[in-house]
Amino acid sequence: MSQYTLNINGGTQTLNAGPETPLLWILRDSLMLVGSKFGCGIGQCGACTVHLDGMPTRSCITPVSEVAGRQVTTIEGLSENGDHPLQRAWQELDVPQCGYCQAGQIMSAAALLKKSPHPSDSEIDAALDGNLCRCGTYLRIRAGIHRAAE
Ligand code: FES
Repeated sequence: MSQYTLNINGGTQTLNAGPETPLLWILRDSLMLVGSKFGCGIGQCGACTVHLDGMPTRSCITPVSEVAGRQVTTIEGLSENGDHPLQRAWQELDVPQCGYCQAGQIMSAAALLKKSPHPSDSEIDAALDGNLCRCGTYLRIRAGIHRAAE
């Protein structure tokens, strides 16, 4: 076990963990930030997506030892009151079905909008390619991103 000080959602958290402990475990089990979801655990589904220094990152395969000193943003830290344009668009358009993957979808979409404020369909499809939705809400996700970009 080692001690790590993490920058998460604008605050700092100090905790003890093994160096290989996945960031997702820290977020969910130690810090009770449960918006990021465990889907596959092998970096394939995107349900655990957070931002690491602004880049969409799979927290299930990111060891805590790689996170110290960097900025982590989770869905809980994306906006003050859940009022990020994407979160508003998601509500307006009823984007989620079961909702399990949606925090990861929104985090990938938020990173895309920072890079490309008015993305095309193909840019959206490419940026969210690794975020799987078993309910098949892809068309509503795309519409939600366009709404947020208005
Ligand atoms: Fe991390 Fe699936 S749980 S990519």
